[in-house]
Amino acid sequence: MKTDSAKYGIVYKNEIAKIENKLSRLILDKKPKSLYDPCSYILSGGGKRLRPFLLLISAKAVGGDFKDVYNAATAVEVLHNFTLVHDDIMDNSNKRRGRPTLHNKYDLSTAILAGDSLIALAYESLLKDSKQHTAEIVSTFTRGVIEVCEGQSLDKEFEIRQSVSINEYKKMIYKKTAALAQMCCSVGAQLCGASKEQIKIVSDYGKNLGMAFQIQDDLLDIMAEENQFGKTVGSDLLEGKKTYLFLRALEKAKGKEKSALLNVIKKKGIERTEIDKYRNLYIKLDVLKDAEREIMKYTKLALKNLSQLPNDDGKNLMHWLANILINRDK
Ligand code: IPE
Ligand code: IPE
Ligand code: MG
Ligand code: MG
Ligand code: MG
Repeated sequence: MKTDSAKYGIVYKNEIAKIENKLSRLILDKKPKSLYDPCSYILSGGGKRLRPFLLLISAKAVGGDFKDVYNAATAVEVLHNFTLVHDDIMDNSNKRRGRPTLHNKYDLSTAILAGDSLIALAYESLLKDSKQHTAEIVSTFTRGVIEVCEGQSLDKEFEIRQSVSINEYKKMIYKKTAALAQMCCSVGAQLCGASKEQIKIVSDYGKNLGMAFQIQDDLLDIMAEENQFGKTVGSDLLEGKKTYLFLRALEKAKGKEKSALLNVIKKKGIERTEIDKYRNLYIKLDVLKDAEREIMKYTKLALKNLSQLPNDDGKNLMHWLANILINRDK
């Protein structure tokens, strides 16, 4: 078991190195520098490269080859980086991947335009691998872009809404995060000529893993060690985000504790000095456990139907990844 895990860890490392290489070559020598230096800044910042890996292992699981989908895998990472650049503007975030966010390092208009051009570069890269079924693949990819925008819009809308249900929250995170993971898996399978049934199985994997991923991101936002996490811890509370933890705490709290939470809504966020107080409140109300239960629930759902896929290495990588993600600290 342990050796298998080490084996898949090596596959991840090797494949991601190929994506890193493609990402760096995407921008090489392009002009004007005023546009491409910032693009290169965000693309070279590291990151887990989860989305390209989802695409690669989905391709593999349906019987395809990594080498046929590297450009598409690069495309989904470039698209993801676009969402990060614009998300950091929308969330007033100063730190990502342990470095200043793009709009902080450069300026707002530079970050907006870098984001725009990343979308176009993503399509360019995707098309290099889409020789067959092109219309379907581009349409799946485009649906992913649309869902992220809708989800991000709901995320902002919820900041100022007085009340949001956990169900509404789940629909929002499906759009802002899970739909993109779903798209990555679907595109990977579509590129390899998979059947409708196979595409559905890998899509569901991506969707459920994406749900777990966002709830865990909410959890890490308040509980992580900042140097590991690479983003400002407590930033969701600073911005008054309706995260899973916040909404669940609101459901459970009574009296003074409830008032403290309602104050976050009233004041549209908290002060830096209050982060510890709210973290302690989350701990006291035991909402971290609730979040962990949700993460486990979605992770199990993700793994549910994988046995029907044809390639064992692909399936094993999907299991390995789900397990790694549960234990991540960034
Ligand atoms: C951050 O994504 C955005 C979310 C959907 C939570 P990642 O946590 O995958 O960020 P990187 O790419 O590894 O930096
Ligand atoms: C991310 O949600 C959603 C995106 C579409 C990028 P967050 O706003 O929680 O992501 P982070 O925590 O800033 O990476
Ligand atoms: Mg956000
Ligand atoms: Mg954010
Ligand atoms: Mg977050």
